[in-house]
Amino acid sequence: MSRWPYPRIVAHRGGGTLAPENTLGAIRLGASMGFKGIEIDVMLAGDGVPVLIHDRTLERTTGARGAVSATPYARLAHLDAGAWHGARWRGERIPRFEDAARLCHVLGLWANVEIKPAHGFERRTGEAVARMAAELWHGAAHPPVLSSFSPVALAAAREAAPRLPRGLLLTRLPPHWGEMLRDLECVALHANYRMLKARVVHEAHAAGCAVVAWTVNDRRPAKRLLGLGVDCVITDRLDRIGPHFS
Ligand code: G3P
Ligand code: MG
Repeated sequence: MSRWPYPRIVAHRGGGTLAPENTLGAIRLGASMGFKGIEIDVMLAGDGVPVLIHDRTLERTTGARGAVSATPYARLAHLDAGAWHGARWRGERIPRFEDAARLCHVLGLWANVEIKPAHGFERRTGEAVARMAAELWHGAAHPPVLSSFSPVALAAAREAAPRLPRGLLLTRLPPHWGEMLRDLECVALHANYRMLKARVVHEAHAAGCAVVAWTVNDRRPAKRLLGLGVDCVITDRLDRIGPHFS
């Protein structure tokens, strides 16, 4: 199998900055613009239901107060997660992970599922998200890649669903990043694009890992990265870096 049999250009949080992040509307928008892959953030609601949301608190994207990890899904389901982005998006909800996965199947989209645990919920979130992903993509030719900044969440994901591929997210490159990838048996390094130099890409590839760059919003760095051999670029600017960008 090739190192990265998944889409090369991926829409961040469903529809990047063109739609309210991590909503079904965003995923539909990404698909309507021709994207074949999306990245989504998944966190556990207070009652353990995996939902799509980036922040640990509700304020920025719903206007409500409180922590996601302290709010049951039944309450999250009523919040408006679209209005902050513009009137056109009013009525978008915080989707359950399973609803987003079903929509991906319907639209033929591949997913990079970022496990986004609230503090103290790393193990539980990694396990729950991986278990659910394994069920939702059972038998799929192209399963989701589960990524996380949390090695604890990734280790839990490996235990719960050993066959699902994993990617380690890093903002900075610690000297032992190669070891971390190996220990967690990751298929990919998901790196802040600013730290990706030829040497890093080469070393990741030599270790048998793909390289995913986030979050690239201009054409020039996107071109540079693809030129270095980066396998996947995640973008917020679907209008600048389209699905066929090369
Ligand atoms: O997965 C890439 C990127 O989404 C990681 O950062 O904070 O946007 O989830 P963040
Ligand atoms: Mg993310």
